[in-house]
Amino acid sequence: MPLDSILSTSDEEKAFEEFLNKYPGYGDTSALDDLRRTEYGRLDDQDHVYLDYTGGGLYAESQLRDHITLLRENIFGNPHSHNPSSMAMTKLVERARIAVLDHFKTTGEDYVVVFTPNASGALKLVGESYPFRPGGRFALCADDHNSVNGIREYAREKGAAVDYSPLTSPDLRMDMDRLDKILDAADPQADNLFAFPAQSNYSGVKHPLTLIERARSKGWDVLLDAAAFAPTNELDLGRWQPDFAAFSFYKIFGYPTGIGALLVRRSLLSKLRRPWFAGGTVKIVSVKAREHYLADGEAAFEDGTINYLGIPAVEIGLRHINNIGMHIIGERVRCLTGWLLDQLALLKHSNGRPLVRVHGPNDLTMRGGTITMSFFDVDGRPVSGAVVEQLAAQSNISLRTGCFCNPGSGEATFQLPKSLMEQFFVSEDGMNFSELVALINEVQGVDVSAVRISVGLASNFSDVYRFIQFATEFRDQSAERYKNITAPPESALRDAA
Ligand SMILES: Cc1ncc(COP(=O)(O)O)c(C=O)c1O
Repeated sequence: MPLDSILSTSDEEKAFEEFLNKYPGYGDTSALDDLRRTEYGRLDDQDHVYLDYTGGGLYAESQLRDHITLLRENIFGNPHSHNPSSMAMTKLVERARIAVLDHFKTTGEDYVVVFTPNASGALKLVGESYPFRPGGRFALCADDHNSVNGIREYAREKGAAVDYSPLTSPDLRMDMDRLDKILDAADPQADNLFAFPAQSNYSGVKHPLTLIERARSKGWDVLLDAAAFAPTNELDLGRWQPDFAAFSFYKIFGYPTGIGALLVRRSLLSKLRRPWFAGGTVKIVSVKAREHYLADGEAAFEDGTINYLGIPAVEIGLRHINNIGMHIIGERVRCLTGWLLDQLALLKHSNGRPLVRVHGPNDLTMRGGTITMSFFDVDGRPVSGAVVEQLAAQSNISLRTGCFCNPGSGEATFQLPKSLMEQFFVSEDGMNFSELVALINEVQGVDVSAVRISVGLASNFSDVYRFIQFATEFRDQSAERYKNITAPPESALRDAA
């Protein structure tokens, strides 16, 4: 092990002092250190460095306790009936809807809360129900997650024009001139939908929420993918008023999985047309007449039985977050991200070559706590993401590699031309992500499987310090050293989240 990496606790203490001098706001977030001990103690008990908050948040012990107590002490039945167990459940589901509206600083007068299985389920509801048609348009951002990219299939099938707002390189922000051209191309009388992420799950870039009003003034409805933004930022829907906003709750407070939400501006509700009905989404259906009347409000969008026992845990999770205060979480994330970016910029091999390259902004301007990077060996050759992930696992560090379901950011980062990408879609048999990574490596000489770390509410200085220590171990190493480190099995290499 290189000497540099044998850093003692006093090195960490010294680094912490310097960190506090540069990021004094961290001191105001000490309530999170108490919670780290009381609610997230399993991290330190297991000596685990968790750096995948953009993949999934961590739950506090009290969330589990409160939820189990609620389930233990009550008799809950399938909601929306008039028996006591059903009514007790309905009451809690409706309370959770109000908690969601409160959290996002809006009310039931302006927004409808539809519970979905996850953010993807919320996005799909918009995709399948939005009145795409010839003459209308669907504009996306090249930084969109695949669960937004997938909506283009509905738009294309129904004859709407599809455009992507490209990203500038290397900062991975939207090119505002090009975006304006796309937005200006719309016929304001037609149905036009613009979808963008409030925060990139690839680069951490925060796209300006002012785009919502800008697009609307040009005749667009706006779908805000807030899945990566909501866990560490206040989102004031009362102020920004997107027409649709999508979330997954496990990303915000870890538990429960399997529940997300679509918030729909009430005035836009009548524009959506569901392509089918299910139990729970209809007022009446006739088999003989082959007709149905769709239910009103959120009921028209919640197919079958909702995750009723899980939904009260959303209220519990939101209470937990609001007791902490989103501004405290945001400040901690900002300070830790700033320090990580500072340190990553300093990481060099002895010959002066950089050890890592951060993809996207390398300062704190309009960015969140997600940092994606590539590692390079002493000769400037890429060290594959799979190698970094395996070695990180040996150090008990949870990070993520791949392109994180965000192919547009990967293509912009590695400047992969359209003509190249088209070549990979001619085979009848298709290919998987690791085959694509290998082929691009062969053709372009770049490893597109990047390494992503992300910080969140239970992160502390030790976590990020340990990551930098880990990264330092790559100093002056040659890629050959890692050639026997095998990639995980194929099934583990599906690019996700
Ligand atoms: C920006 C963004 N949108 C959408 C999603 C999809 O979320 P889910 O997998 O919970 O449906 C993710 C997941 O990582 C995301 O980061």
